[in-house]
Amino acid sequence: MILLITGGAGFIGSNFIRYILKHHKNYKVINLDKLTYAGNLENLRDIDKSYKTYSFVKGDIADRRLVNRLVKGVDAVINFAAESHVDRSIIDSSDFIQTNVVGTQALLEAAISAKITRYIQISTDEVYGSLGKSGYFTEKTPLAPNSPYSASKAAGDVLVRAYCHTHKFPGIIARCSNNYGSYQFPEKFIPLMITNALENKPLPIYGDGLNVRDWIYVDDHCSAIDAILHKGKVGEVYNIGGNSERKNIDVVKIILKKISKRLSMPFSTSLIKFVPDRKGHDRRYAIDSTKIRKELGWKPGYNFDKGLDTTIDWYLKNKEWWQKIKSGEYKRYYKKMYREG
Ligand code: NAD
Ligand code: TYD
Repeated sequence: MILLITGGAGFIGSNFIRYILKHHKNYKVINLDKLTYAGNLENLRDIDKSYKTYSFVKGDIADRRLVNRLVKGVDAVINFAAESHVDRSIIDSSDFIQTNVVGTQALLEAAISAKITRYIQISTDEVYGSLGKSGYFTEKTPLAPNSPYSASKAAGDVLVRAYCHTHKFPGIIARCSNNYGSYQFPEKFIPLMITNALENKPLPIYGDGLNVRDWIYVDDHCSAIDAILHKGKVGEVYNIGGNSERKNIDVVKIILKKISKRLSMPFSTSLIKFVPDRKGHDRRYAIDSTKIRKELGWKPGYNFDKGLDTTIDWYLKNKEWWQKIKSGEYKRYYKKMYREG
């Protein structure tokens, strides 16, 4: 199978490329990534060195000529490429509309002309909006996005839906809850808290810290996409979740406890700093993933405790990776490498 994977230099995309090449030795992967601030070829250094079946192309999913060329001969497209951070979308949503909506449309148009058998849109549970204290998002929950990020993702999803209906396009939408794990950019909650704690910096908690997210270890998201790629039904939506709802404040306290134990020195909760709330902050996300479990036989392999231990170990072992990001060193390197800026 030949796969065109977009956004493969980011957090989930790079983990997925590693996963798919390890589990399907005869597959070929073309990784198309624009290398925005969140894209990092260091995330795939091991893959680049050891797999002849892997190739990288720097480019934009909205570049129709490029995508038309790349999609030829490809069996399936998996679209991870996106602007992905809610806080950035609140400051300025332009790049979110450009990549998550216009980019998705360009990719769909290119894919339609090539005879691909599968297109998977990597979406998010955030398209469903926010829950109260009870209830879960199912695939039938109406879309009610609250942030410019989730609105742009919902727009991408409805485009995929419309292409499936109008053109009999082989699209499938995957909506996963909050991921954590190796190579996650340290602007996101869990890696930010781990790395700030290790640097003895304040741990900023938005609002009252009682917002709830449903956490899933990134490898479990990857195995779910693998199941969808091989067994998913065209035109369908699949929710993916790890049944691990946690309040933000509790996540930070667990992280501090785990780091203290690992390093045999106390990391105090006095680092926690309550800061003004995010605008429009969704209160609670929780996924009902019965459909993918029953229909595709998928289940997560990690509980929150095991996933968080693995993640903390990774950030302890890979200080150079995140310290370079935090100091802006990678950005300077890519500017030089690609003669930009
Ligand atoms: P990320 O920000 O770490 O990576 C995004 C990647 O896309 C980067 O490598 C970036 O360079 C690339 N990219 C951005 N614009 C591009 C463009 N126009 N053309 C080509 N490449 C471009 O994001 P992530 O956390 O890995 O998320 C991947 C996907 O999964 C996104 O679609 C996101 O909406 C979705 N998702 C993320 C989470 C999560 O918790 N992180 C949860 C559910 C769904
Ligand atoms: P985030 O990782 O940005 O994911 P999302 O907003 O897409 O769910 O944030 C996860 C939760 O953590 C969310 O409720 C916002 C909160 N948060 C903080 O309290 N402080 C922070 O510095 C960040 C980045 C997030």
